[in-house]
Amino acid sequence: MIALNDLARHHAPLRAELDAAIARVLDRGWYILGPEVDAFEREFAAYCGAGECVAVGNGTDALELSLRALAIGQGDEIATTANAGMYATTAIRAAGAVPAYVEVDPSTLLMDPAALAAGLTPRTRAVIVTHLYGRLADVDTIAGIAQDRGIPLIEDCAQAHGARKRGRIAGTFGTFGCFSFYPTKNLGAPGDAGAIVTGDSRLAARLRALRTYGWGAKYHCEMAGGMNSRMDELHAAVLRVKLPRLDAWNGRRREIAARYARAIAHPAIALPPPADADADVAHLYVVRTRHRASLRAHLAAAGVATDIHYPVPDHLQPAAGGTAAPALPRTERACEEVLSLPCYPELADAEVDAVAAACNQWQPAIRS
Ligand SMILES: Cc1ncc(COP(=O)(O)O)c(C=O)c1O
Repeated sequence: MIALNDLARHHAPLRAELDAAIARVLDRGWYILGPEVDAFEREFAAYCGAGECVAVGNGTDALELSLRALAIGQGDEIATTANAGMYATTAIRAAGAVPAYVEVDPSTLLMDPAALAAGLTPRTRAVIVTHLYGRLADVDTIAGIAQDRGIPLIEDCAQAHGARKRGRIAGTFGTFGCFSFYPTKNLGAPGDAGAIVTGDSRLAARLRALRTYGWGAKYHCEMAGGMNSRMDELHAAVLRVKLPRLDAWNGRRREIAARYARAIAHPAIALPPPADADADVAHLYVVRTRHRASLRAHLAAAGVATDIHYPVPDHLQPAAGGTAAPALPRTERACEEVLSLPCYPELADAEVDAVAAACNQWQPAIRS
């Protein structure tokens, strides 16, 4: 079976370094928000070219804490897309605000800036743009729209660590860049972890208080809306081993995406549109077909694992709680058609070719 991802392969060549980093943490006896987290915050801020990095418990908390730091809450609307796995929606709702969904570009499946501009209301307090599948959204245009309206832009970079445009890195185009280090991300910890980068030191100080119950001094709760969302030392130590390799891994992911693009040729399979090299870190290689169940079953029979990112748009999830569903036909169609093929740095060329060959051999069972 060709797996969708293989973290044992990913970690094997790093094993001695990882073991040493983990032993260092165990021997030190300091397990949460300590010297490894401090060092990772400095190193990740430097990598992103951001003034500050605040390490937190996971990527969803990073989004929620960003909203809380901006004092966003009850009755506020946050413009975002509905095809990105419920993460932004979960954070928006947890902060007490409401998602206002914006349609996606039909080709890239990223936020459509024209739809954003048309959908802003007087209650819109922020925009969350997701760089889905590893690809930067049209972030300059979106940042310009947010700036014109005087509202902050939050980038969800959970799938786009290291994606660049004109030398600027994902997470530094708006007020906050939110990251997940979930194990399968381009930069992944051995568990849940996340971070927020920002150029605003006042907001960074608010984030640091909010991630620890709203504490100013220890046990002194000075800010309402605090949470417990801290990064563990073990995760920070592992992320510090991996960060220097991130660009090389992203390069290999791009090679795999390019190889798929050259090798897959099937009239019923649409490939992702070409991207500017640096603006895509190929977190996922997502094809589209109107006969997804048939392609998925064919690939499984051929020994190729696939997944769907994501099958249900946020506004149609049962937990949406009866919110009047807006018309998002492009989003809904995408959720019916997308299929993710294996794409991770350790995937061998022969495996990429085998996946592509299996795609090309597919004979869709088309029913009228
Ligand atoms: C686009 C996106 N946003 C947010 C998240 C949430 O991150 P986490 O799982 O660390 O909470 C994820 C990943 O899971 C994601 O893919």
